[in-house]
Amino acid sequence: MEPLFELAIRLPTRASRGLLRALHSQLRAAIINGRLKPGVQMPSTRALAASHGVSRNTVLAAYALLLGEGYLIARGGSGTYIAETLPRSLADKPKAGEESYDRRLNAAWRRRRPPFGRGAPQPAPRLSFQLGVPDIGLFPFDIWRRLSARALRRFAKARPAYHDPQGLLTLREAIAKHTSSTRAVACRPDDVVVTAGAQQAFDLLARTLVTPQRTVVAVENPGYPPLRAALIAAGAKVVPIPVDSEGLVVNGVPDDARIICVTPSHQFPLGTAMSMRRRTALLEFARARNAVVIEDDYDCEFRFADRPLDALQTLDRAACVFYVGTFSKSLFPAIRLGFVACPPWARRTLVTAKEYADSRCPELMQHTLAAFIAEGHLVRHVRKMRAIYSERRQALLHGLHSQFGHSLEPIPSAAGLHLAAFCKTSRDPDTIVERARLSGVGLYTLNRFATGKNVPPGLVFGYGAIEKAAITEGLTLLRRAW
Ligand SMILES: Cc1ncc(COP(=O)(O)O)c(C=O)c1O
Repeated sequence: MEPLFELAIRLPTRASRGLLRALHSQLRAAIINGRLKPGVQMPSTRALAASHGVSRNTVLAAYALLLGEGYLIARGGSGTYIAETLPRSLADKPKAGEESYDRRLNAAWRRRRPPFGRGAPQPAPRLSFQLGVPDIGLFPFDIWRRLSARALRRFAKARPAYHDPQGLLTLREAIAKHTSSTRAVACRPDDVVVTAGAQQAFDLLARTLVTPQRTVVAVENPGYPPLRAALIAAGAKVVPIPVDSEGLVVNGVPDDARIICVTPSHQFPLGTAMSMRRRTALLEFARARNAVVIEDDYDCEFRFADRPLDALQTLDRAACVFYVGTFSKSLFPAIRLGFVACPPWARRTLVTAKEYADSRCPELMQHTLAAFIAEGHLVRHVRKMRAIYSERRQALLHGLHSQFGHSLEPIPSAAGLHLAAFCKTSRDPDTIVERARLSGVGLYTLNRFATGKNVPPGLVFGYGAIEKAAITEGLTLLRRAW
């Protein structure tokens, strides 16, 4: 049956050369501004042509343009639909009159977009290779509940006070001990600043290290968009630097860069580890130019091979590395706790910025986490999860080799909760991801994390929150969608 289509379209006279342009731009505008909703079926070209008195070829040409731009999706046999995920660059662009464009907003924030793009939340796919999330179903909430009840009992009896904005001493002690035993990160409790996740660490570092419109910051490309966003919001001149199989291409960092941001343990999103050669070159670069390095060690707990290479913070002899850690992966993202192990010269300023930003992190959560680490639960949980994630990763690698041997090449990596793969065929990754989504499978394209177009086509699979059987099923559906 023909779908109902009540959009008013005003077209020039039939003979006009602007007919196609007018039809295409009005349909596109209706999709972007939401009058035509994602998932809605478009009328057949024949019906639309008849109802507007234009030739079917004109409608066919307009549909072809919209299909090519990603606004429409053809579902073999069943018709043409508005795409569920609109092309990012255009759908994200704020329009005059939209709230984010209002002149009462500070000009620097007016057009700012969320780091992962705007757009209505999509329903979660049934089988999701979601990135950046651990399996909270396996978290020992019974232990957490007990420790948190204990923290609450103590808190109820204590004298009310504002605690240290740097973070509770018991938590900083636990973090310093834990990171020095697991990552050989040499820090004392005094060097640790507790933050609301890694993201607040990035934000505070950006505010305290960047001089707006002056400071040049080198970031990995592809890289982690929320880090880039925090730097840009602070006024940094952000320069994307390519990443190869050894990590950030240090030779490509401009001489005037004063901050260099890296994920050396497990490059986000490619997954490679930075080679020792590059680590040494990066530290030498920073030392020679009085620059600093932000080392984002977001999922280093989950390693599936031999001993990891030393952290940059461990190798640093010039007090230039800010080591950022998070409990979002080892525990769960809702905890909103992370930390910076910072050089002594920066600590006071960082704590002041923290106090200006949000005073301090919630005390009860900090007490509970301190006890969780100090009593050995973190180490036990990580050990258990490492075995589980390792199995999932094996299942994913096996599936990629057996079902996509000719089309995908997994990028070698030995850590973390996600895996990336380069496409070996000419298939467009955006189309593959969109088709997979329509089949109930969620995954990502590599270019979603890139600036510009110079990142090879590829896909990214998270395996933290998807079980082994679902990995196999997801890959089978992906194969069909391919
Ligand atoms: C590269 C990278 N850095 C840091 C984080 C941690 O962010 P947060 O601690 O703010 O949850 C993530 C989470 O997905 C990440 O992927």
